[in-house]
Amino acid sequence: MLSIVVPTFREAENILPLVQRIRAALEPAIPYEIVFVDDNSRDGTDERVRELQQQGVPVRLIVRTDERGLSSAVLRGFCEARGDVLLCMDADMSHPAEAIPEMLRALETQQADLVVGSRYVAGGGVEKGWGLYRWLNSLVALWLARPLTSVRDGGAGFYLLPRRIFEQRKDFNPIGYKMLLEVLVKCPCRKVAEIPIQFADRKFGESKLNFREQLLYLLHLKRLYDYKFGRVSRFVQFCAIGASGVVVNLLVFAGLEKMGLSQKLAYALAIWIAMTWNYVPNRFLTFDLTAQHPILPQYLRFVLTCLVGAVVNWSVTVSLARESSWLGGHVYWAALVGIVCGTIFNFLISHAWAFRAVTKAK
Ligand code: GDD
Ligand code: MN
Repeated sequence: MLSIVVPTFREAENILPLVQRIRAALEPAIPYEIVFVDDNSRDGTDERVRELQQQGVPVRLIVRTDERGLSSAVLRGFCEARGDVLLCMDADMSHPAEAIPEMLRALETQQADLVVGSRYVAGGGVEKGWGLYRWLNSLVALWLARPLTSVRDGGAGFYLLPRRIFEQRKDFNPIGYKMLLEVLVKCPCRKVAEIPIQFADRKFGESKLNFREQLLYLLHLKRLYDYKFGRVSRFVQFCAIGASGVVVNLLVFAGLEKMGLSQKLAYALAIWIAMTWNYVPNRFLTFDLTAQHPILPQYLRFVLTCLVGAVVNWSVTVSLARESSWLGGHVYWAALVGIVCGTIFNFLISHAWAFRAVTKAK
């Protein structure tokens, strides 16, 4: 059986036309159930579903009152679905139900682990009239996900997979809108088929994709990068934060000096403020798994790490300048090597000690 999971939030007027379209596409050849996962819309969605149930249509409604979010709603639906194939689609009829039989066929003929209804393969597309902003948005979102997957439309909301693949998922923790990326990275989807679809604009209701969701997408990407690339991903974040720290360091130094502080004191304060500046995003972003740990000891460990890192930086620079006659004449290059060594040192010690994730065996 095919389980069609439809996340809904204020989609009451789309329920009946959507179900009608699905029935026309599937009945009588394909046995299915439809599972609506609604986040307490209270707009009459439940009445529409009850109406359909009375007509004998295989629909169910799960109402969540304690949580909101597209991906987590889909996850809940997948967990409660009874079919051996799980499909996800939007309620607003952006996704053509008519493509479902072909997607199911691709599962068999291409022996796929996942089939995506794709806007970005030959024959697929989006409805005309997407403004530049929406189009760019979609493009940048996909481009940011490129290193995670080779699937053309990794941000799609229309896809199906066998239950056995879903059941092999690891460390699932989807946030925001792009549940498919979570599936692609954390389920064993070796073979993915993409079936072209035409993405239609919604006729009723309105989109729930807002700025908050876009920020959540960035956080989701960060987590998937960490999951897939581990320490390399964290190192990139650490360096980006470090680079911002350099700017803060210089600005604060200039500011304090202007205020009349002695150069030595101004520079010492500037270093301390930059370290503190770096500490915050490293706690909450780079090493987010440790964001619950007591803050003061962690902060002190980080400051100590950076101080030792500065000594490493200094010693490398000074000894290179002394040992190599070329570097002795080009001290900025020696300093650059020192900075790189100091940064790597800081990162490794931060990772292994200052922000160590304490995982005690229970
Ligand atoms: N349960 C629940 N909770 N459902 C939600 C929530 C929520 O917080 N937010 C959105 N939904 C449901 C909507 O009711 C709709 O059925 C579906 O999720 C998609 O929401 P839209 O607001 O219509 O999203 P969109 O059209 O901007 O985005 C769609 O296309 C994107 C690609 O352009 C989605 O399919 C995305 O997943 C996809 O990336
Ligand atoms: Mn939509």
